[in-house]
Amino acid sequence: MSPALKRRVQGWVNVGPVQPLPVNVPILKCGGCHRIHGEGGAVGPDLSYVADHRSKEWIIKHFRDPQSTSPGSIMPKFPLDETQLTELTAYMLSLKKAV
Ligand code: HEC
Repeated sequence: MSPALKRRVQGWVNVGPVQPLPVNVPILKCGGCHRIHGEGGAVGPDLSYVADHRSKEWIIKHFRDPQSTSPGSIMPKFPLDETQLTELTAYMLSLKKAV
């Protein structure tokens, strides 16, 4: 993904270098629960290398309804539109160990 898109999504996720956000962009505060490369909370799993063990399909299904893949999960079902879902998923898929 492009560096500009990555910075935008990092702003939503609220982990990493937080950029000044235009209005109407959600701040999803994923970082309240998740750590990415040393920043963020530890309520949920560390996402630094999440793409090493979760597929695109799993990640999308989980965002649409966390309970569907992870029964009993306390992760909220975020009201993401399709663009946000696609971009957030692309960002998750970029989080993997370099090969
Ligand atoms: C209230 C805490 C909370 C918030 C906020 C939250 N999550 Fe989660 N998340 C969890 C918990 C707990 C799990 C583990 C259970 C599950 O799979 O749902 C999880 C699991 C995940 C997983 C799967 C990780 C793995 O290795 O299996 C991903 C990806 C994820 N979250 C991304 C996000 C993103 C992106 C956001 C922001 C849009 C977010 N989460 C916001 C609590 C949270």
